[in-house]
Amino acid sequence: MSILLTGGAGYIGSHTAVSMLQAGIDVVLADNFVNSSPKVLARIEAITGVRPTLIEADLCDREAVRAIFRAHEISGVVHFAGLKAVGESVAQPLRYYRNNLDSALTVLEVMREFGRTQFVFSSSATVYGDQPAPLTESAQTGGCSNPYGWTKFMIEEILKSAAAAGPQLSVVLLRYFNPVGAHESGLIGENPNGTPNNLMPYITQVAVGRREKLTVFGDDYDTPDGSGVRDYIHVCDLAEGHLAALRYAESHTGCEVFNLGTGRGSSVFEMVRTFGEVNGVDVPYVIGPRRAGDLAAVYADPAKAQQVLGWTAKRSLADMCRDAWNFQRRNPNGYE
Ligand code: NAD
Ligand code: WQD
Repeated sequence: MSILLTGGAGYIGSHTAVSMLQAGIDVVLADNFVNSSPKVLARIEAITGVRPTLIEADLCDREAVRAIFRAHEISGVVHFAGLKAVGESVAQPLRYYRNNLDSALTVLEVMREFGRTQFVFSSSATVYGDQPAPLTESAQTGGCSNPYGWTKFMIEEILKSAAAAGPQLSVVLLRYFNPVGAHESGLIGENPNGTPNNLMPYITQVAVGRREKLTVFGDDYDTPDGSGVRDYIHVCDLAEGHLAALRYAESHTGCEVFNLGTGRGSSVFEMVRTFGEVNGVDVPYVIGPRRAGDLAAVYADPAKAQQVLGWTAKRSLADMCRDAWNFQRRNPNGYE
């Protein structure tokens, strides 16, 4: 039996593939490469010694998804596939709603056709909207500030309804906080197209000389140093969280939700400082205005994942900075 990783060629999917293969779990990856490269497969093989099946498919294409389930014994699905750029989702909302909702619905319907029941979903802390941290899973969801966030909210609602209607279903919603870093080998990592939206890839591109300087989006927030505070989590810790979620799905039905974060908030200035100290490289920056839609402080209460899944993030901010830089340095232009 295999686990299907939709969007498995992407940043979090590829790291999860490595964790699962190293745990002896067979995986099948499906991706249309809208935001990734098939070249990641050779990297996964170099790390694990296993070359998993990678299928080029659009998860909105029902026949293509059926073909995957016909060709492979899929026992469970981790659904990473989706578009994730917040700004792009504001400019192209219909594309975001179509792709993210359609792919999730199509995979779920085909799973039902084939009698498959385990589904782990890549959700996001963005579903909490503007509420005080630390955020627990029981906090209200909705109030998202962009279409991307609403797609996550809507898919969560779809999954809750599906689990309520089908008692054999086993759904785990994972709300990621801010995934950063890379595999310690430096072979796989984050490789955004165009100008990075997120802090860490922007910092690494400044450090490698692809961009002149970082703009810190606001230094007048109500936080200890005035810059925004987030819960950065090492992508390998996040990947391991998926193994724990799958084990949980194997032995429980219904719909359960978990935060995957460290519980620790770090500011933009702290990140820039740590990156410089750990890697011995300077990250020039200027202070700019606040970015529209940004919140002062967002971090998780990760207690539920620890208590129920037995999972906890282990890697430090310094590890995240070191590994992100190691990948960027070795791959100045990503996988190309
Ligand atoms: P990513 O873009 O690297 O990975 C997503 C993958 O899905 C890409 O490889 C892309 O090509 C693929 N994809 C998109 N639409 C598809 C479709 N219709 N058919 C087939 N493949 C398709 O992003 P990531 O950072 O690895 O994120 C994975 C998931 O986690 C996403 O759902 C994202 O929304 C969610 N998430 C990410 C973050 C983050 O900060 N990275 C935070 C919270 C949640
Ligand atoms: C982090 C901090 C910025 C860039 C986004 C999505 C969220 C989730 C994770 C998917 C903030 C500051 C950033 C820069 C900066 N993704 N910053 N200069 O906004 O917490 O979350 O990614 O689900 O949905 O919204 O992450 O990395 O963009 O920003 O000062 O050039 O860094 O203001 O305080 P964010 P981020």
